[in-house]
Amino acid sequence: MDMKIDEKKLLNEAKEARENAYAPFSGFTVGAALLTKSGKIYRGCNIESSVMSPSLCAERVALAKAISEGEKDFVAIAIAGAPEGEASKEPCYPCGVCRQALSEHVALSSFQIITEENGKPSTCTLSDLLPKAFIFEK
Ligand code: THU
Repeated sequence: MDMKIDEKKLLNEAKEARENAYAPFSGFTVGAALLTKSGKIYRGCNIESSVMSPSLCAERVALAKAISEGEKDFVAIAIAGAPEGEASKEPCYPCGVCRQALSEHVALSSFQIITEENGKPSTCTLSDLLPKAFIFEK
């Protein structure tokens, strides 16, 4: 049976994570909250670099924290992003790199991406955002 996801709670976790974002170069701060099957939440925020390429998106920070702690089963990620100091009301979808990174660790058709739209949680699946994904056959 599918686990009931508290979308509002997960979005609030993403908003709290956003408060720690380090984004002095773009001025766009993002928070993410990744939910595991067992109910644990791993948070991430974007961390930019003055030399740009080491910059990290919030989603991949959350993913790296979870994977490095041995987590393997993920059900959803909530994302909140907006210009620094502004409330995150419009949907902030994961960038292409994060979609690919997530795709290697989740079930594409059931993993939920939760964003905020008009003040309410809005949900789609990773396969909605990454159709015809590259799958590496070992
Ligand atoms: N960013 C994220 O952290 N996640 C996204 O889903 C989109 C973009 C970050 C990268 C960069 O630090 C800033 O937002 C502007 O692109």
